[in-house]
Amino acid sequence: MAGEKALVVGATGMIGGLATQTLVDRGGAVAVAGRDARELAERSSRWGSCPHRPFDAYDLAGGAALAPWAAQALGGLDTVVVAVGVAGFGRAEDVTDAAAEHLMTVNALAPMAVVRGALAVLEPPAAVVVVTGLIVDRPMRATADYTAAKTALAAWLGVVRREQRDRGISVVDVRMPHLDGGFADRAFVGSPPPLPRGADAAEAVARYVIEPITAAAARTR
Ligand SMILES: NC(=O)c1ccc[n+]([C@@H]2O[C@H](COP(=O)([O-])OP(=O)(O)OC[C@H]3O[C@@H](n4cnc5c(N)ncnc54)[C@H](OP(=O)(O)O)[C@@H]3O)[C@@H](O)[C@H]2O)c1
Repeated sequence: MAGEKALVVGATGMIGGLATQTLVDRGGAVAVAGRDARELAERSSRWGSCPHRPFDAYDLAGGAALAPWAAQALGGLDTVVVAVGVAGFGRAEDVTDAAAEHLMTVNALAPMAVVRGALAVLEPPAAVVVVTGLIVDRPMRATADYTAAKTALAAWLGVVRREQRDRGISVVDVRMPHLDGGFADRAFVGSPPPLPRGADAAEAVARYVIEPITAAAARTR
């Protein structure tokens, strides 16, 4: 079963935290990474003192090193979940270059680095589940830079999925819908427009993150 030895990057967040909890509840061995070192350590102790490692999106080499570290810590690796990201709002002419760089680094370059590092150590049948967002298919005004970053990641994942299919590594791009949980309110830049009520986060994680992990194992067994 895929998910027996899993790395969750962004485990300090809502989606990453819910995914980790489910994998732990299923009896999997999980290694976790996140930016907030204190929160990460607290969560790790709740998850059976699982291996944990701080991670900042700007350290791309550190991101690429996460899966090799997790494989070593867990004695192998069959699943990687990447749920790292930050929102950003504002018309294109109002977003600074620095903010645009931040959105591209956190939402695209860092997840790509994590996956790149994982491809060398994953043991098929394996699953790589990366959260992009429904915004890829339904861009909104005042999100050009956030949308561009998520779309870059989605395009990259589409090619990687084709490259890895024959290896028994299932690469899943989760176009997550808007959830309850305040992600948009934690934006790096700007403020969100009025948004409709989001979907239930626990249900969405079960359906869009956990189900593909189970399905990947069944498909490639
Ligand atoms: N929630 C939604 O409605 C929704 C909808 C569609 C797509 N998504 C996508 O799902 C992913 C996770 O969303 P979420 O709701 O779980 O958000 P969240 O609770 O805010 O979690 C975001 C995660 O990204 C990490 N992160 C942010 N900036 C970082 C940086 N500079 N370096 C390293 N890690 C960084 C956070 O780390 P720390 O907490 O440790 O700082 C946290 O682990 C994001 O990619 C988001 O775009 C979310």
